[in-house]
Amino acid sequence: MRGFAKWMERLGTEGAFEVLMKARELERRGERVIHLEIGEPDFDTPRNVKEAGKRALDEGWTHYTSPAGILELREAIADRIRETRGVEVDPCKEVVVMPGAKPCIFASILALIDPGDEVLIPSPGYPIYESVVRFVGAKPVLIPLKEEREFRLDLEELKEKIGDSTKALIINYPNNPTGANLTDEDVRAIAEIANDHDLWVISDEIYSEIVYDGGFRSPISEPGMKERMILIDGFSKTYSMTGWRLGYAISTPEVVERLIRLQINMTSCPAAFTQVAAIEALRGPQDEVREMVRTYRRRRDLMVSRLNSIPGFRCVVPKGAFYAFPNVKEFGMSSRELMEYLLEKAHVATLNGDAFGLYGEGYLRLSYATSVENIEEGVARIKEAVNSL
Ligand SMILES: Cc1ncc(COP(=O)(O)O)c(C=O)c1O
Repeated sequence: MRGFAKWMERLGTEGAFEVLMKARELERRGERVIHLEIGEPDFDTPRNVKEAGKRALDEGWTHYTSPAGILELREAIADRIRETRGVEVDPCKEVVVMPGAKPCIFASILALIDPGDEVLIPSPGYPIYESVVRFVGAKPVLIPLKEEREFRLDLEELKEKIGDSTKALIINYPNNPTGANLTDEDVRAIAEIANDHDLWVISDEIYSEIVYDGGFRSPISEPGMKERMILIDGFSKTYSMTGWRLGYAISTPEVVERLIRLQINMTSCPAAFTQVAAIEALRGPQDEVREMVRTYRRRRDLMVSRLNSIPGFRCVVPKGAFYAFPNVKEFGMSSRELMEYLLEKAHVATLNGDAFGLYGEGYLRLSYATSVENIEEGVARIKEAVNSL
């Protein structure tokens, strides 16, 4: 009998694309929409990286590469991990390059999780974790990230939710959507819990270089963690390379072999010339990255202070990434209703917090990866629109 595969019913999607489509519809009708929903840098890819990509095409990087990625890129990644996380990584056996961090997340869950396993997932969180965990027939166990803890993990609650079927913990700091970061103490405690309870930890560190306060620390630097972790990072956010599609995973040789096997079945390898450009991104000058982070910080300060001046909005100061996550519970409507109201009334696109899971309800996510003018006008429009609620 003809029909669709049942497992597709368990696979979710990303709310950002839905809002973007609605906003585009308004734009087709001639409205000027301020986009605060999009989770991607508004900067161009650094010039030296683009030049390296163009040169690579001319030099013939137009064929398949090793399914683990070009060795020279894996070496550059291993060097970056040593510099930023203080651990030695074998570029031949412990690194795989994929077309984005997203396929690394997908492959990591496929490689580690069986049907019936439980996976601890902080909520609100990047929706792909919950979606893929459900897809493989496992059970997501949500750990609420609380505003009063500045959206850091509540470690006592984490421990309470660990049971006999718990196989893994997925963390993402600096965090999308809250902008939270972990303290050194948090990182040490997470490592201790993972070691004590023999858990895998999938650590999505895609915003690791976009940090404003307190620095970044990965659990992989803690004793015993390299053997039980998949570290995921990439080029989309740090180097403004979302459209190049390039990310990587670091883990044990046994895990990496499985990730490579998944890659062989899905994509064979990421595009060759983008990998060559990524070597330049890692090895070339880093001043544009530093400048981007300084610019995000100024925009963050502007956005948070403006949001906090709106009666009914309460916004924790984000420590990293490029999102503000204000509490909007006072309006007495669901975050989806408020998102739709702001889009229709003020032509400002935001994301409803529940697009990031159950515990995102009552919040909006606004991206400040956009110009100061857009932030000023967008928040001013929001203020005016909620005034008449
Ligand atoms: C937490 C998180 N992980 C992964 C990704 C995907 O990154 P990539 O473009 O490398 O697939 C995103 C993008 O928004 C993200 O916010």
